[in-house]
Amino acid sequence: MIPDVDCDSIVYLNGDYVRLGDAKISVLDRGFIFGDGIYDVVPAYNGKPFRMDGHLARLERSLASISIKVDLTRHDWEQLVEGLLKRSGMGDCMVYIQVSRGVAKRDHAFPKNARPTVFCMVAPFKRPSPEVREQGYSAVSMPDVRWLRCEIKSVSLLGNVLAKQYAVDAGVDEVLQFRDGYLSEGASCNIWVVKDGILMAPPRNNLILEGIRYSLLEELAAAAGIPFDARPISQQEVDNADELMLSSATKEVLPITVFNGKPVGTGKPGKVYQALRAGYDAAVAAL
Ligand SMILES: Cc1ncc(COP(=O)(O)O)c(C=O)c1O
Repeated sequence: MIPDVDCDSIVYLNGDYVRLGDAKISVLDRGFIFGDGIYDVVPAYNGKPFRMDGHLARLERSLASISIKVDLTRHDWEQLVEGLLKRSGMGDCMVYIQVSRGVAKRDHAFPKNARPTVFCMVAPFKRPSPEVREQGYSAVSMPDVRWLRCEIKSVSLLGNVLAKQYAVDAGVDEVLQFRDGYLSEGASCNIWVVKDGILMAPPRNNLILEGIRYSLLEELAAAAGIPFDARPISQQEVDNADELMLSSATKEVLPITVFNGKPVGTGKPGKVYQALRAGYDAAVAAL
């Protein structure tokens, strides 16, 4: 028994479909030993994957960036995700996909003949409630001490784990990480800043994981006539923002209404957030 986990749910492991409670990998799996692997999370609404193409393209990019070769085509991945969703019978849920470099004698360099370990599971998720959307999140700042390849969706998540715990210990919902005085991202989300009606986000580079919602919010902003600027954003600009918000697969888009103990702008979800939220809901409804 694992608290809050349905051990009877069916997962995919290296070509087999098994109960989560029965799925086993070797202690010599490099994902376990070195954190040598990557992952992605595809959200689904009413059993239908949302923005799957973007997620699978990112999965393939992550694999290529650490030279893991998997024998699965894009079509195979799609079938895997859709098949698992069907089997699960779940409505709003997420498909977690993880690939590690496989099982080998413990040695840092890539093994010659290891077969990558491929694991997928489906878990339910609850869309952000009307109360959370209305109240917004609280956040505090912290230094970004992670490595310099944050664009890879690596399972080596210790920096993100410690960042999230920093928020928990501070009694807030999220952290905003700053590197050399400039905004990077949250513990597991991208961060958006609004000043004078302009939506801004840190540029796509190695200092952030480009969320699949990055392009989506950019599209939604364009459709709503909101100018968007991707550029380095200083901590002072974040302190003086009219609006702050975050985005991720499970949080969708949410306002941050309290930052470092002070209200952001009016302290209420702002106009730009409302426009992006309406666009997001419409995109989900159109699935
Ligand atoms: C570090 C980090 N940044 C950003 C994101 C947002 O990515 P997405 O919108 O694809 O969920 C995530 C999501 O897990 C993340 O872990």
